[in-house]
Amino acid sequence: MSKKYLIIYFSRTERTKKVAEYLQNQLNADCEEIVDKKSYKGVIGYIKGIFKAKSYTEICATRYNPSYYDELIIMSPVWAGTFAPAIRTYIRKNSDNIKLASLITTASTSNCNGAKKEMESFNIILNKALYINKIKEDSLLDLKEKLLN
Ligand SMILES: Cc1cc2nc3c(=O)[nH]c(=O)nc-3n(C[C@H](O)[C@H](O)[C@H](O)COP(=O)(O)O)c2cc1C
Repeated sequence: MSKKYLIIYFSRTERTKKVAEYLQNQLNADCEEIVDKKSYKGVIGYIKGIFKAKSYTEICATRYNPSYYDELIIMSPVWAGTFAPAIRTYIRKNSDNIKLASLITTASTSNCNGAKKEMESFNIILNKALYINKIKEDSLLDLKEKLLN
C-alpha cells in the first residue's frame, strides 16, 4: 500500500504554495494551508515578519489530523534563517501526533539548516530536509525524487 502523505504549508507570497500544490499532485497527498491570523502583507508585513520570525503566533483551525498520515511534509518559507511563525505554531500544537516528517523550505538564498535544527528540537523523526531557492520546473521534478529516495 502506498504511503499516506499530508502536506502542510505556510506561504506569504505563494512561492511555497506553488511547490506544495505541485507535490500534492505528484504524491497524491492531502494538502493544507496553515493560515496565520496576523497579516504579513506588503512591505510593512515583511518588516514585521523579520521581527516576529522566531516567535509563535495564532493560526486558524486546521482540517486534517496528522496522526492519520504516515508522513507529514512540512513546507515553509525561510524567515530570518528558520521557518515562519505559523509553521512553528503548527508543529508545537501537533508534535505528539506527527509520526514522521520531511521539511521543505523555499528562500531567496538560505538553505534549510536553520529550520531543520529547529524542527529537531521538537523531537519529531525527520526524514528528509530539502530546500529550493529558485523555483523552476526542473527543480520541482528533482524534488519528488529527492523526497522519495
Ligand atoms: C520576514 C521574511 C524573512 C525572510 N528571511 C529570509 C532569509 O533569512 N533567507 C532567505 O534566503 N530568504 C528570506 N526571505 C525570503 C523568503 O524566504 C522567500 O522569498 C520565500 O520563497 C517566500 O515564500 P512564500 O512566497 O511562500 O512566502 C524572507 C522573507 C520574509 C517575508
